[in-house]
Amino acid sequence: MRATFTISILAWDKARPLARPVREQVFVAEQKVPLELEWDEWDEGSDHAVARDSKGQAIGTARLLPDGRIGRMAVLGEWRRRGVGTALLEALLEQARKRSIRHITLHAQTHAAGFYRRFGFNERGGEFLEAEIPHVEMTLELFPARG
Ligand SMILES: CC(C)(COP(=O)(O)OP(=O)(O)OC[C@H]1O[C@@H](n2cnc3c(N)ncnc32)[C@H](O)[C@@H]1OP(=O)(O)O)[C@@H](O)C(=O)NCCC(=O)NCCS
Repeated sequence: MRATFTISILAWDKARPLARPVREQVFVAEQKVPLELEWDEWDEGSDHAVARDSKGQAIGTARLLPDGRIGRMAVLGEWRRRGVGTALLEALLEQARKRSIRHITLHAQTHAAGFYRRFGFNERGGEFLEAEIPHVEMTLELFPARG
């Protein structure tokens, strides 16, 4: 059966109570990213994509900075491989088009590079550590939506 969830694009004041528990679960509890590295000044001013299940519970999130950086992509463990990450990324790429952002960059955890490659992202440069997790920079040039 197809999993039912919805995606919203929200400013930080609305996204915060939804995105925070998901990011704390995935990055802080599961991936052991120190809490002080998880929260930064970029949440305010970013567009946040939030996925919710049929009961309205947040199950995934990601953000788009005004300069085209995408990050903090997280889907709860029990919801992975069900298309939530794809829907979050598609929503943020659509939002970037609306904002006329053409150059998208992100720091992918190396294990997730294959996920981003499916959208046309290419790796740039070598591997580096962030919060002691191997990452690689990836970029995508967006073209305006047709029609
Ligand atoms: C990476 C992540 C966001 C993907 O979300 P998801 O909801 O599982 O993604 P989808 O279901 O839309 O996956 C679509 C496809 O991407 C690929 N994919 C998903 N996760 C992948 C991964 N970790 N590595 C490589 N490919 C991956 C798969 O091919 C998948 O298709 P399939 O299920 O037919 O094999 C999720 O695994 C996650 O939150 N991981 C923990 C946090 C994290 O590592 N975030 C990334 C920071 S860069």
